[in-house]
Amino acid sequence: MNQDATNKEIVVSGIRPTGKVHLGNYLGAIKNFIPMQDEFDTCYYFIADYHSLTTHNDANELPVHVKRSLATYLACGLNPDKAIVYLQSDLPQIPELYLLLNMFAHKGELEKCTTFKEKIRTPGQTVNAGLLTYPVLMAADIIIHKANKVPVGKDQQQHLEMTRTFANRFNHLTETTFFPEPQGFSYGESLMKILSLDGSGAKMSKSDANENNSIFLLDDDKTITKKIKRAKTDTGPTEKNSPLTPGIEALFGIMDCVSAPEIVADYKKQYADCTIKYGYLKLQLAEDLINYLGPIREKIIQLENDTDYLAEVVEKGGEKARESAQKTVDGVRKLLGIQYF
Ligand code: TRP
Repeated sequence: MNQDATNKEIVVSGIRPTGKVHLGNYLGAIKNFIPMQDEFDTCYYFIADYHSLTTHNDANELPVHVKRSLATYLACGLNPDKAIVYLQSDLPQIPELYLLLNMFAHKGELEKCTTFKEKIRTPGQTVNAGLLTYPVLMAADIIIHKANKVPVGKDQQQHLEMTRTFANRFNHLTETTFFPEPQGFSYGESLMKILSLDGSGAKMSKSDANENNSIFLLDDDKTITKKIKRAKTDTGPTEKNSPLTPGIEALFGIMDCVSAPEIVADYKKQYADCTIKYGYLKLQLAEDLINYLGPIREKIIQLENDTDYLAEVVEKGGEKARESAQKTVDGVRKLLGIQYF
C-alpha cells in the first residue's frame, strides 16, 4: 500500500463507533495510527460497527456515529492514500471468519474476560451472546488480514491475548503457521492509559454515565475548562516525594501528552516538594488541552459534513480490505476441509 515504507509487517486496528471519541481513545490508540502509516507498508484501520451492536442498537444514531468516527480518524491524520480505511460491516468475510473462529473459542475463557464481566454488571444490560463472543469478533477483525501489529490502548490487551489464543489453536489444529501472533503496539511508553477525571483511578471510558469524567475530542473550549476545573483531586501532598493519588495522576497523565515537557517537569517538581497549587495546574492543563484539541475538533466537524468524501474513502478502502480478507477466508476454508468438490 505505502510503497515507501520499510516495515513489511501488517497493522490492523479499529474503533467502536459508540458515542464520542475521548482523549483516552485518541492518545491510547489513534495517535499511534498516524506514524505507523509511514513506517509500515500495509495498515488497515476500520470502524467496528458490528461491535457497537453488542451494547447499542439505536438504528437512527448508528449512521451518525459511524460518520463521526470516520471523520475523527481522518481529522486525526489518517491518510486514505497510505492506509486502508474501511467499515467492518463492508466485509462479508468478517462474519464468516467469526463463525469459524467461534469453534476455537471456549465458553469458560470468554466468560472470564474482564470486559465481559464488567459489561454484564451494568444494570439493564442484556447478556446477549454477541457480548460474550465480542473477543472472537475482534480476533476475526485482526487475523482476517494476518496482522502482526495492533495499535490499541491498555484496556484491549486481554482481547489481544485471546486473539493469540484462538489463532494459535487454529494453527495447532491445522498443523500450520497460517496465522501470525498479533502483538500490541504503541510508540509511547507501554500503551498509554488515560484515567477518568473522577479520581477513581479507572480508565477514561465511553460507557461512563457521567460525561464530566471524560474529555471528548468534540468538547468545546468552555466544556474542557469546566471538566478540568471539576476534576477530582485531593488536599495536596503533605510529604515530600509522595506517590501520585489517582486524581492527580489523571491530570498529569493528560498533561504528559499535551503540555510542553518543561511545564510538566515543573509541576511534577512542585508536587514532589509539596508546593503545588492544583488550581494553577488545572488552569495550565485546560489551556494546553484547548490548544491541542481545537484544530482537531474543527477538522472533525468539517469532515463529518462532507458525506460524499467519507463514502468515497470507505468504498475505496473496502475494496482493498475485501481482497485481503477473501484470501484469508479461502485459506481457512481449505484448511478446515470446507471444500468438497
Ligand atoms: N474492542 C476495541 C475497542 O473497544 C475495538 C476493536 C474492535 C478493535 N475490533 C478491533 C481494536 C480490532 C483493534 C483491533 O476499542
